[in-house]
Amino acid sequence: MKKILLLICITCLNLMVSAQKKQLPQLNKNNIKQVIKALTLEEKVKLVVGMGMYIPGAPAGLLPPNDPEDDKIAPKVPGTSGRTHAINRLGIPSITLSDGPAGIHFMDLTNAKPKYATAIPIGTLLASTWDTIMTKKIGEILGREAKDYGIDIMLTPAFNIQRNPLGGRNFEYYSEDPFLSGTIAAAVTNGIQKNGIGVSVKHFAANNTETNRMKLNTIVSERALREIYLKGFEIAVKKSNPWTLMTSYNLINGTYTSESKDLISKILRKEWGFKGLVVSDWFSGQNAAVSLGAGNDLQMPGRPDQAHTIINAVKDGLLAMSDLDLGVERVLNLVVKTITFNKYNYSNNPDLTANAAISRMVAAEGMVLLKNNNALPLPKSSTIALFGNASYDIIAGGTGSGDVVKKYTISLDEGLVNSGFKLQQNSKSIYEDYIKSENEKKPAPSFMDVFNPFSIKEMEVKNEMIIESAANSDVAIITIGRISGESKDRKVENDFNLTDAEKQTLKTLSESFHAKNKKVIVVINAGGVIEMASWSPWVDAILMAWQPGMEGGNAIADIVSGKVNPSGKLTATFPISYTDVPSSQNFPGKQLPLKEGETLDPVMPTYPAEITYDDDIYVGYRYFNTKKVKTAYEFGFGLSYTQFYYGDIKLSSADFKDKITATITIKNTGKVAGKEIVQLYLSAPSEKLKKPSQELKGFAKTKLLQPNESQTISFTLTLSELASYDPALSSWIAEAGKYTIRIGASSLDIKQTKEFSLKKDILMNTNKK
Ligand code: BGC
Repeated sequence: MKKILLLICITCLNLMVSAQKKQLPQLNKNNIKQVIKALTLEEKVKLVVGMGMYIPGAPAGLLPPNDPEDDKIAPKVPGTSGRTHAINRLGIPSITLSDGPAGIHFMDLTNAKPKYATAIPIGTLLASTWDTIMTKKIGEILGREAKDYGIDIMLTPAFNIQRNPLGGRNFEYYSEDPFLSGTIAAAVTNGIQKNGIGVSVKHFAANNTETNRMKLNTIVSERALREIYLKGFEIAVKKSNPWTLMTSYNLINGTYTSESKDLISKILRKEWGFKGLVVSDWFSGQNAAVSLGAGNDLQMPGRPDQAHTIINAVKDGLLAMSDLDLGVERVLNLVVKTITFNKYNYSNNPDLTANAAISRMVAAEGMVLLKNNNALPLPKSSTIALFGNASYDIIAGGTGSGDVVKKYTISLDEGLVNSGFKLQQNSKSIYEDYIKSENEKKPAPSFMDVFNPFSIKEMEVKNEMIIESAANSDVAIITIGRISGESKDRKVENDFNLTDAEKQTLKTLSESFHAKNKKVIVVINAGGVIEMASWSPWVDAILMAWQPGMEGGNAIADIVSGKVNPSGKLTATFPISYTDVPSSQNFPGKQLPLKEGETLDPVMPTYPAEITYDDDIYVGYRYFNTKKVKTAYEFGFGLSYTQFYYGDIKLSSADFKDKITATITIKNTGKVAGKEIVQLYLSAPSEKLKKPSQELKGFAKTKLLQPNESQTISFTLTLSELASYDPALSSWIAEAGKYTIRIGASSLDIKQTKEFSLKKDILMNTNKK
């Protein structure tokens, strides 16, 4: 009897709940406003404060506490960077956000059955392809893989300006140039979003230093901000409509970017027409209510204290309910677009083999041949003496959230053997024994490995080993490896500069191999710029292989063998010495004392700090070219196994009206097929505003041109390519006068020029799109 009564009660209760549910709106893309009306204040706040970041192995108390209620909810995709809250009674699901720029970043140190992702090449390599078709394709595989794993938003592309070679996250970023950065970011975004997966373009903005990254105040002029540090984001927003954008950790001129109304509401939304959601970087900013009021809709990964701050601010009238509602509306607008909301039945089984093949192809496309004294490509019959730890233990990518748990990595030794080369066995076995014994000393994995990976000390090479190798092989290849990553900047000594031991090895190698009439090839396996001028004359070839992802060894071998003709070009200047870089004066900024009561974060101990961008708009080649400072390798430089001829430039008109088109024909005049990256720089009149001698305003990569084959390329320049930002007018202005189009193979190797004129100054009103 009791049982029957209980059954009746449960049925009644269920009926009541479903009747109540029927009256409640269930989220769909047409009833968002109605759903917002049905939300309580607490529910609204849940939607704008995220949840769900768990770092395996993090000691208790180290990270800010999660809401214990949230901890009870199992994640849809474990190991990602976080998710939003679900409000089940209104049909609002939780959506999943995951890093990162080099592939899906699953945080899983301990799981016996880790989830693997394709480790694609780092951002700098992707940009070094200068190829929007190729980078869109890599975006497509990232998006596809995210979709197969049930992830809604990928926290990429990252494309802050590589202002200084020591920037710890430069490897994730694209270039020192905003036009190139923004254009590549748009291509990657278009590729990812094609799959119905959103991106988060990051980190908005002027996040160019890792030291004290959570509290660094960047002091920068409005012009430099607009022309250098915001421009890439403006291009990406306008060309690819990113679903979300991530604000950065730093402050700009005294205000946290996540709390800056000027940056988010005025510039990003009003001027550029950004329609998506703005999300904070993880644990950034200081006041969640101020952040929401400024237009930063979602706080990630979300902490209970942030929810309380927002609730109290609304109750105390410090935050308008309409501002909270706007944030909620943007979250819901995003949710309804996601695969989770649309109940996509994901496989959890991406085609990692097919994706690895694309990763290999792109890796080879973005490597840059810097020197080649008839050393490359090598005949397949060559026996290679291979030196350098990284030749046997490749550095596939950088560290931090841009790292990827991969099933395997192909080192150069394997890649060369896969390509049919023979390796000189003595050096191989000495390195392998050394690496194995050093690896055995590795400390047990800890959660801090994410930021401080264990790296093996470079093996000291004995002279006898070099002499023996020179006798028993045809050629030497030595890899110089460098790792860098999130939360730390690089150092000049023993990082940007080679160590004394590395230089000594290079010298002895060159002397010993040259004495036997044999060549020495250097492969650089690094995330960014290093010093080369002091040692490059000793060696015969230098290949900048960057950190090329899990298939890196195969991709390098493709270039060494000539299967792929190198076609990448540098996206940042390689200075002769670090002190030649203008920002070397004050990078990474000045550390300030802790304020009273301020404590150091145990995870990322960051002090308040300040950095002044004295270099203003003269960043990278804008400085080196304008001031005529010699470089080791200039922006845009890269060699090929073939040569190209540049025909004359034809202009659509001699006067600029609302646009102008420049056309040029490129011909492969060498003996093998190859691709050329054609760069268009513009010199603008500088009566009113000082200008760099030239700026990149267009680029294109040819198709694979066979010997004697030509391709005609057109570039269209519009007003925004002509204009500079005049802070006195709060406007972009294209100055009247003579403009010179300079088309070439690098920023210094200009092949053809042509002038056009603009009759009158034209102002571009920043308040319009
Ligand atoms: C990084 C972001 C990343 C986020 C989530 C932050 O520390 O700066 O780039 O997307 O963590 O992992």
